Amino acid sequence: MTIDFKGKDILNGFQFSNQELNVIMETASYYEMRVKRGEIIKDLEGLVVATLFFEPSTRTRLSFEAAINRLGARVASMAEPANSSIAKGESLEDTILTVDGYCDCIVMRHPVSGSAARAAEVAVHPVINGGDGTSQHPTQALLDIYTIRKEKGHIGGQTITFLGDLKYGRTVHSLGYLMQQFNNKMIFVSPESLRMPEEITAELKSRGADIEETDDIKYALSQSDIVYVTRVQRERFPSVEEYEKCKGSYILNNDLLKYAKPGITIMHPLPRVDEIATELDTYEGSAYFRQASNGMYLRMALLGLVTGRHNICYSI
Ligand code: NCD
Repeated sequence: MTIDFKGKDILNGFQFSNQELNVIMETASYYEMRVKRGEIIKDLEGLVVATLFFEPSTRTRLSFEAAINRLGARVASMAEPANSSIAKGESLEDTILTVDGYCDCIVMRHPVSGSAARAAEVAVHPVINGGDGTSQHPTQALLDIYTIRKEKGHIGGQTITFLGDLKYGRTVHSLGYLMQQFNNKMIFVSPESLRMPEEITAELKSRGADIEETDDIKYALSQSDIVYVTRVQRERFPSVEEYEKCKGSYILNNDLLKYAKPGITIMHPLPRVDEIATELDTYEGSAYFRQASNGMYLRMALLGLVTGRHNICYSI
């Protein structure tokens, strides 16, 4: 079966078949090999990719822009919406219709859940969701499974603990679906008020996910091949008081690691505040900075695929 991604939008963590996921993984590793060989890659030569970031970003924007540059395309960037016509009251739809006329692909991060899907309805060119509110962050989840594949040798059949802000953290909302698709067991550990939204847990279970919820971090670590830590999403809280109640409520450090399954891999989408002690950075299973570098290869793969410029046919 041949998979064709040309023109497709990348909007959420539940849109992919396992075959599509395998094609994305193979393409990311193909680009990683070419970059590491020092090749000058021209697959996207002549194309322009717009990056519209209506929320702060370091890794997602810079890895996309590095990916665009490494593929030989050019970037049209709106990193400061305060300096754009958004500040004059222009609607998202009008902005997208305009940008769509300038470029071949749009990468967008926006504070409103569902905004990427809305942009995709309006745009002719493919839209890639770089995070929409508390909803989804599919490119992060894809680089997460690419990282798991590299760190563990395979993606499926493992136990992963999601630790932290599972309510507002969009990365785990996307990754949960991919973990389920590859038959991993998931353990959710969070402060009571930051539990995984019920509708997502229910949806995952209806797809056959094996999910356990607990507040016993030591037990969860002892069972897990991977722990995926997330930041308390301060900017999403209704009030500072609510945030203060939750902040610092879990911190992974050397003491806690003693309870973990030997060889556990520690992941985090970053930015980290204090939820992983820096003393863990030298632990060999700490994969979070490797995870961040994998993001560029994965995003090269997505850009190559949705523009139709990476046209190696994988028959799976
Ligand atoms: C995440 C995000 O923006 O959702 N960051 C990222 O893209 N790596 C996680 C976060 O902000 O905590």
